Order: sequence, then structure tokens, then C-alpha cells
Amino acid sequence: MRLFLDTANIEEIREINRWGVLSGVTTNPTLVFKEAIDPEQVWKEILAEVDGDVSLETTEPEAAAMYEEGKHLATFADNAVVKVPMTPAGLEAGKRLVDDGIRINVTLVFSPAQAILAAEIGAYIVSPFLGRIDDAAADGMHALRQMCEIYDVQGYQTQVLAASLRHPMHVVEAALCGADIATMPYDVFSKLVKHPLTDAGVEKFLADWRELKQKLGKEGA
Ligand code: G3P
Repeated sequence: MRLFLDTANIEEIREINRWGVLSGVTTNPTLVFKEAIDPEQVWKEILAEVDGDVSLETTEPEAAAMYEEGKHLATFADNAVVKVPMTPAGLEAGKRLVDDGIRINVTLVFSPAQAILAAEIGAYIVSPFLGRIDDAAADGMHALRQMCEIYDVQGYQTQVLAASLRHPMHVVEAALCGADIATMPYDVFSKLVKHPLTDAGVEKFLADWRELKQKLGKEGA
């Protein structure tokens, strides 16, 4: 399962990228809004920093304008993936972009029925929002499991990207479901590496090593 950061903050991306595990980035209009700088500047910095896929979201509501916007976003870099919403206009624009050879990510997906539509237009990625499904008192992980199973049974090539992940166990469970990609905020990514026994173990090893060096220093004197 590839790991993506769900952020438009370049410092967060640079930090996690140094770990050598970052395969891509997803952004959305809200995340770009938080950076309060020119969106094109934000996107281009991210596209240059990350080796893998970077999703840039369209904001035009009508299909024709969304298609033109998507075509423009795709020119930013080879690793740009154009995000379109799961709406009739998003499907129409998305299909035209796919026909042009542009890789699209169909976003705001909340049901297996919607995931089938995304696969049928030949989307590169489908993004179910697990956390937001849970927020609506439904079972996001169950929906993800169904989507992964349908894609498997039907032989769809569209990659399932588990989005709106809120904690490390969401990431673990998404991997167990067979998601191709998990995208998560910086906070959740940072928690993946943490374990109290790792911290305690490192502290003890370093303390023993310091003591050994002190002892050997004294014996040598
Ligand atoms: O990738 C989708 C994500 O940005 C939505 O996450 O936490 O706003 O539901 P959230």
C-alpha cells in the first residue's frame, strides 16, 4: 500500500519525504486555502518536491469548464493527477480527461455504487472518504472493504485510495482491506512511527552505551 500525505504544506511534505516512505500527496481546495498563498505556487512546489503522484483538485462546477481546468492542471508536471468530484459533471469532465490520456482521481466518494462509476470511466484513482462516512454514523471501513472486493471481482484497474483517515488504526485497517493507497494528514503520518516501547528501548540502549563508554574510559585511565 502506497502512503500519501494529505496536505498542501510544503514543510510537512519535506519532513515526511526525508523518511523515504512518501509515495505521493493529495491536496484539496480547503488544504490549499489554509496555506493562504497562490495555489499554482503551492502545487508547483509540491510537484517538484515529490517523486510520486500529486493530486490537484478542479474547482469549476460545470463539466466543460472543469474539463478545461483539468487539462490546464495536468500541464503543471508529469506527476500531476487531476481530481474531479463524484458528480455528473465530474464524471463527464473526468471521462473526457481520461480519453485525453490524463490520470484522474475521483474524489468525494462515499459509496460502493459511486466507486463503480469511477472505475467505469477509467479513473486512475478513486478516493473514498472513510472518516467522513464514520462522521455520518455509518461504517467507512465496511464501505472501503466492499469497494476493494468489487474492484477485485470485476478486475477494475482503478486504484483505491483510502482518504479522510483520522488515526493510525485507519491506516492499518485500510491496508488489511487491500487499499492501494492511504492518504493521511501530517499528524496521522507522524503517529505511524511512534510506539512507547520503541522510545523506552532507544532511551535504555543509549543510557547503557553511555555508561559502558564511561566505564571503559575510567578503566583506561
Ligand atoms: O483526502 C480527503 C481528505 O482531505 C478529507 O479529509 O479529514 O477533511 O475528512 P477530512
